[in-house]
Amino acid sequence: MANVIIRPDWQLPEREITAIGEYHNRRSFIKEMGLGVGLGSTILGPRLEAAAAPKLFPAKRNKDFNPRINHTDKRWVGGYNNFYEFSTNKEYVRFLVDKFKTDPWRVEVTGLCKKPFKFDAREMMKKIGIEERVYRFRCVEAWSMVVPWAGYQLSKLLEQAEPKNEAKYVKFYTALKPKEMPGLARLPQYPWPYTEGLRVDEAMHKLSFMATGAYGEPLPKQNGAPLRLIVPWKYGYKSIKSIVKIEFTRKQPNTLWNSLAPREYPFESNVDPAISHPRWSQASERMIGPNPVRVKTIKYNGYGQVAGLYK
Ligand code: MTE
Repeated sequence: MANVIIRPDWQLPEREITAIGEYHNRRSFIKEMGLGVGLGSTILGPRLEAAAAPKLFPAKRNKDFNPRINHTDKRWVGGYNNFYEFSTNKEYVRFLVDKFKTDPWRVEVTGLCKKPFKFDAREMMKKIGIEERVYRFRCVEAWSMVVPWAGYQLSKLLEQAEPKNEAKYVKFYTALKPKEMPGLARLPQYPWPYTEGLRVDEAMHKLSFMATGAYGEPLPKQNGAPLRLIVPWKYGYKSIKSIVKIEFTRKQPNTLWNSLAPREYPFESNVDPAISHPRWSQASERMIGPNPVRVKTIKYNGYGQVAGLYK
């Protein structure tokens, strides 16, 4: 029995993955995504930033966050995006990020804390150091992926501000740059900027991660460069991209999706196969990639160690 490997539902068979060395063979991907000749160079946008930060990447993998699970093809993670500030079409986002300037990048940490501060995204990576963590990621739209993110534990950033006892929540704000984000003007009715929030104890949990890279390189702009949240036990919309402000608050903050449709996008939003979205079931998910597979969804996206936060 000891030698029998039981593969969980979410583990991809070997044939589903692409080795990291194969990323640059883009031709089949371009064909699969229905794209023409000439567009492919944009997919490589992140490599320009990689050149500017050669020492930080690739980050060393943290063995405590390294499940035996195959990664989603990098070209899908960088080519199938939700980033409404650019487009509501997942396959267009990466072609619309060229004008988006992500370096230098200032972030403000403010609100109910003893030591509010501002920092530069690149400098903070150097200060805290970065590591790689492989996380499963589940979108509320019932698709999922497995990504080797690089970055630092969110608590290592937040602790620097020394939050006050009365701080119960943390609110995150995405940049609001209408000249660089063409999707903003197409959705004038949305309460921009994109905002999200966590309880302070959720934000301080060791799984909460500030991602600054993926697949051994700096984060592609379409994935939320230069820094975005990853909260792997919650639906993907909680994992806010391109953060410019972090605020400690006493009351539960408004968030973009919760303001627009509170019944569909509750503040807590833990992955739970037993609770359907009002318009679709959450019992299973489609793992994106060249050969998508449908697997059962697991409570907390499989991160049962957070259960204690919700007693
Ligand atoms: N952050 C911002 N600022 N704008 C967005 O539209 N979309 C969210 C989240 N963070 C979003 C965002 C949603 S719905 C998902 S599923 C993930 O980003 C998608 O992340 P990915 O494109 O890196 O897969």
